[in-house]
Amino acid sequence: MTSPNLDKLNIVPFVSVDNMMKLVLTIGVETMIKGIADQIESDFKRWELFDKTPRIASHSKEGVIELMPTSDGEVYGFKYVNGHPKNTKEGLQTVTAFGLLADVDSGYPVLLTEMTILTALRTAAMSAVAAKYLAPKDSKTMAMIGNGAQCEFQALAFKHILGIETVRLFDIDPVATDKAILNLKDSGLNVIRTTSHEECVSGADIITTCTADKQCATILTDNMVGSGQHINAIGGDCPGKTELHKDILLRSDIFVEFPPQTRVEGEIQQLDADHEVTELWQVITGEKEGRTSDQQITLFDSVGFAIEDFSALKYLYQAIKDTEFYDDLDMIADPDEPRDLFGMVQRAKANL
Ligand SMILES: NC(=O)c1ccc[n+]([C@@H]2O[C@H](COP(=O)([O-])OP(=O)(O)OC[C@H]3O[C@@H](n4cnc5c(N)ncnc54)[C@H](O)[C@@H]3O)[C@@H](O)[C@H]2O)c1
Repeated sequence: MTSPNLDKLNIVPFVSVDNMMKLVLTIGVETMIKGIADQIESDFKRWELFDKTPRIASHSKEGVIELMPTSDGEVYGFKYVNGHPKNTKEGLQTVTAFGLLADVDSGYPVLLTEMTILTALRTAAMSAVAAKYLAPKDSKTMAMIGNGAQCEFQALAFKHILGIETVRLFDIDPVATDKAILNLKDSGLNVIRTTSHEECVSGADIITTCTADKQCATILTDNMVGSGQHINAIGGDCPGKTELHKDILLRSDIFVEFPPQTRVEGEIQQLDADHEVTELWQVITGEKEGRTSDQQITLFDSVGFAIEDFSALKYLYQAIKDTEFYDDLDMIADPDEPRDLFGMVQRAKANL
């Protein structure tokens, strides 16, 4: 591998899937999730500095393709991400992603990367950050409904950051649960297979719903949620795609990322447009309260917001420095004489 230089602006460091996997294995899944979680917390404390816009979604019959941009004035980032619940039946991923960081001053990209794996890490990190402020103190057991691609990342994030000792798994497809049990066998978690949604949530301090269905589903009904539980609702993240019965929302204190996006995409699309919600960044800065009582049901209505991806990209940019886990990508046309783009193309004839 050539000696890559992160400061050479015409050459963009590119993190392939292969290199991302090597980086994750070298750093460790739990350490990497914690690093991203710390970056998310620190960026949420600077929330007001960021450009914020609901993600730009292109919906189709089977799914959605979204662009998620943001900037803190110095660095700009965006993620391309899809959501296609029918994909796994065709041997494809429900969610795939890639993303980019750029220098705001010059507009030159400084990082291009796969983000399918990075999204799973950042979503787990975000869930754990929210739960740190909202879940019951000393939570030990998490129910995990939906045992697909995100499942193990969530389980490990909650073990490492919250101190969860037991995960109770359920999926309508037992093959998904088999896979999760196998993947978590050496995790140090006590992993329990359950046979229904009801059995899964029984006795759990935290309930994570992480299913994929292109419709308003009812993964949890009101009778399944007891006082004091924290719900980490991840799978309801598109118009017409929710997981919780409306009555649960009416009994919960609801925490969200960015209300203009969550009101369209999250569980709260089922509620009136002025229903009271708390922005998580204000809990993190101490401006608003998170959990205030043992009886309270707290709900993190997660949809995934651009600043979380920005944080993951920033973490990655630092993490690859002094490693071999990226390639130099000849991505930006950068003639010696900036206005002689045409001449640069003509001179390339010599190399044909
Ligand atoms: N909030 C966020 O930031 C965020 C980030 C990434 C993904 N997501 C969403 O999280 C969800 C899960 O993503 P994934 O990549 O793990 O998807 P996946 O397709 O790999 O897994 C989803 C699992 O849910 C199961 N399932 C479907 N309906 C169910 C039901 N009624 N009860 C129990 N299990 C059921 C499926 O069998 C499958 O195993 C998706 O909806 C995705 O859009 C949200």
